[in-house]
Amino acid sequence: MMFTEIDHVAIAVFDLDAAIAYYEDTFGCPVEHRETIEKDGVSEALLRVADSYIQLLTPIREDSPVAKYMEKKGEGIHHVGYRVADCGAALEAVKAQGFKVIDEAPRPGSRGTTVAFIHPKTAFGTLIELVQE
Ligand code: CO
Repeated sequence: MMFTEIDHVAIAVFDLDAAIAYYEDTFGCPVEHRETIEKDGVSEALLRVADSYIQLLTPIREDSPVAKYMEKKGEGIHHVGYRVADCGAALEAVKAQGFKVIDEAPRPGSRGTTVAFIHPKTAFGTLIELVQE
């Protein structure tokens, strides 16, 4: 199996601080990492759940892909990140099978990871992120 763990479930929210407080106070999930990724136009928080994370995302610009997504779909689950041993090899395997990808090559993700996104169109409607730690 290519996936070694569910790395994170990403949830798009309008108010990042309120969403963090909700997961902390209601479920006791600790915030482990916060980061603003200027290039992607998002601010995010990672809250630990066992060996995985909930990734809360909010757009910081109107033209960011997450902002555009939220205009259509509102708040809710945005993508699922699966941990892989080798992001490049995993991406090539998906492409070799003829499935649509968003990233043609792996790129830097948050907290020093290497990531690549797979297009939801040929993935049964879910945006998939391959995450190499
Ligand atoms: Co992600």
